[in-house]
Amino acid sequence: MSQLLAPFHSVTIQDFESSWTSPANIAFVKYWGKKSHQIPANPSLSMTLSECTTTTKTKFQAANGLTVRLKLNGKSEEKFATKIKDYLESLQDELPWILNLSVEIETSNTFPHGAGIASSASGLSAFALTLTEYLTHLKSDTEETLFYKRASYLSRLASGSACRSVYGGFTSWGDSALPESSDLFATSLKVHPKLAALRDTVLVISSEEKTISSRSGHGRMNEHFFAEARYSQARDNFSRCISALQRGEMDDVGMILEAEALALHAMMLTSPEPYTLLKPNTLSAINAIWDFRKETNLPLYFTLDAGPNLHLIYPESQKNKITTFISHELAPLTENIIHDKTGIGPKKC
Ligand code: DP6
Repeated sequence: MSQLLAPFHSVTIQDFESSWTSPANIAFVKYWGKKSHQIPANPSLSMTLSECTTTTKTKFQAANGLTVRLKLNGKSEEKFATKIKDYLESLQDELPWILNLSVEIETSNTFPHGAGIASSASGLSAFALTLTEYLTHLKSDTEETLFYKRASYLSRLASGSACRSVYGGFTSWGDSALPESSDLFATSLKVHPKLAALRDTVLVISSEEKTISSRSGHGRMNEHFFAEARYSQARDNFSRCISALQRGEMDDVGMILEAEALALHAMMLTSPEPYTLLKPNTLSAINAIWDFRKETNLPLYFTLDAGPNLHLIYPESQKNKITTFISHELAPLTENIIHDKTGIGPKKC
């Protein structure tokens, strides 16, 4: 049993209600491939966003058996309720009383579904934060550092990337040479002040539902010919990216950012059951960004999540020339554009 949850193994259930707003994050070094119990195959690192958030209100009450009801934007969502129920059931060894709870969730996102922003990271970290606050309430534990470590641990068990959303700025997750690093929860990462405020402009190339889920994509790494080479590349990119972030070298960070995005999609293209989530306009935009960089030397770089939509990362200080380029050259390739930036992390509401 984890030391983080051990104090809550036996409790007297009380009624409780809490609300949290939690942000999405964009990975600079990707988590792609995992072992059992949501243990990542390599360390990853991300920037927490500011505008793309989920707000979740949760009511916990004593009951005979575990029931979960969930409304997304006021509408009952059976699929998400089942996902949360499965997640809570998976915690029963550590929190056996969880099987005697009625859980009512009301959740809403600031960003549209299918916008290329993973709602699982913001949504599941927001829920895990309400659950962590509930635990704290049941045992009157007010230690703040442990609170966020616990919230990150509980978020990871719901969705790996969610564990990085419980801190603002930059966050790393996974065993590494960093002090206090762990496969079990994420930790905050200090970066050079020059890179502490970056912009993330999301080009929504397509908002269609993904054909292959991230969960299934992780699974395909198990039998992947290049798996070990990819994990070794990710470990190398992880330490080089941290070093560049701490030295304030945007161009070094940007080259790693793009290499990581392309490696992620190369893994999909070369997996035992190959597939791609890229669209023709994703490639057109990538070529336009490379040309723009060659012509102007401006620090505009892209990354991709498991989808066709590009996240454009650049320093706040260069925003005028870069946003002009985006609206003239890239906007015609998109369905929609979302403007985001480095955020300060979740907040209780
Ligand atoms: C490409 O965190 O969605 O966004 O743990 O199965 O829920 P599960 O996977 P998930 O995978 C995220 C993959 C990624 C890269 C990243 O965020 O590091």
